[in-house]
Amino acid sequence: MNKEFQLNDQVAVVTGARGKLGPVWVEALLDAGAHVAALDLPGTLPSSGFKALESRFGERLKCYDCDITNRESISSASSSLVNDFGEATILVNNAGVDQPPDSDGSRSVIHDLSIDQIRHMVEVNFLGTLQVIQIIGSKMVPLGTGSIINIGSVYASVSPDQRFYDHLSGNLPFLKSPAYGASKAGVVNLTKYFATLWGSKGVRVNTLSPGGVLGEQDTQFKEKYTSRVPLGRMAQTDDLKGPLIFLASRASAYVTGHDLAVDGGFTSW
Ligand SMILES: NC(=O)c1ccc[n+]([C@@H]2O[C@H](COP(=O)([O-])OP(=O)(O)OC[C@H]3O[C@@H](n4cnc5c(N)ncnc54)[C@H](O)[C@@H]3O)[C@@H](O)[C@H]2O)c1
Repeated sequence: MNKEFQLNDQVAVVTGARGKLGPVWVEALLDAGAHVAALDLPGTLPSSGFKALESRFGERLKCYDCDITNRESISSASSSLVNDFGEATILVNNAGVDQPPDSDGSRSVIHDLSIDQIRHMVEVNFLGTLQVIQIIGSKMVPLGTGSIINIGSVYASVSPDQRFYDHLSGNLPFLKSPAYGASKAGVVNLTKYFATLWGSKGVRVNTLSPGGVLGEQDTQFKEKYTSRVPLGRMAQTDDLKGPLIFLASRASAYVTGHDLAVDGGFTSW
C-alpha cells in the first residue's frame, strides 16, 4: 500500500461497529494497519463476518459497549479504549438508525407520523454523533492531529424517492421518514462546524455519504434504485473502503469539511 494511505499503529474508533457497514470500516482500517476499537450497543451480537475479523486480527481489534445517546456510556468506552490502545486519532461515526421498509405495522400517513420515531432518529443520528465528537473527537485537539469521518447518506442532500417503495404491500403505503435525511443533513453541517473549529488544531472532519448498499432488498426496489444510479448499480461494500481510508489517512491531508458522496453518481442526477 502507498505510504500515504497507511495507518500503521494509529488507533481508530468505529461506532455502531457490529451492524452491516461497521465491519466494512473496521476491516478497511485493520487492513491499513490501525488498531480498532469497535463500539456498539450493549448486548449487540457480532455477525459471523465480525467474528472472522476478531480471529484474523487478534489483539488489534477490541470491542466496547457504548450507547452513543448516553454521555456516561461514551466516556466509559473512551476511558477503556485509551487504557487498552492509547489515544485515538481516527474516529468513524457510523452508528445510526434508519427505518427498514419491511413491516406495515408501523406505517402511518405523514400527518400522523410518530414524533417519538422522529425524535429517536435525531437522538441517535444527530445528537449521538455530536456527543461522540464532543467526548472522543475533542481528545484529538491537544494531540494536534486526527481525522473524524461522519457517515452521512445520499438522503442528507436529496429527498428519498418514495416511488422506490410504492410496490410494497400493506394497509398504508410505506413512507420513508423525513427524520432520516434531516438528521443526516444535520450531520453534514456538524462536519463543517467541527472542521472549521478544529482545522487550525490539526484535526480534520469530513462526511462520507454512501448511496444504497446492495443487501437483502427486494428485487423491485433494487431495479428501481439501480435505474437512478449513473454507474448503473448499487454500492458493493468494497466500494466504501477506499474512500474511508482516503479520508482517514494523510492522502487527504488538505481535505476537511467535505461531504464525499460514494453513491455512483446518484446525487448528480
Ligand atoms: N446500509 C446502507 O445502505 C447505508 C447507506 C447510507 C448510509 N448508511 C449509514 O451507514 C451507517 C451504518 O448503516 P448500516 O447499514 O450498517 O446500519 P445497521 O442498522 O446495520 O447498523 C447500525 C449499527 O448502529 C448501532 N446503533 C444503533 N443505535 C446505537 C446507539 N444508540 N449507540 C451505539 N450504536 C448504535 C446498531 O447496534 C448497529 O450495529 C448508518 O449511519 C447509516 O445511516 C447506510
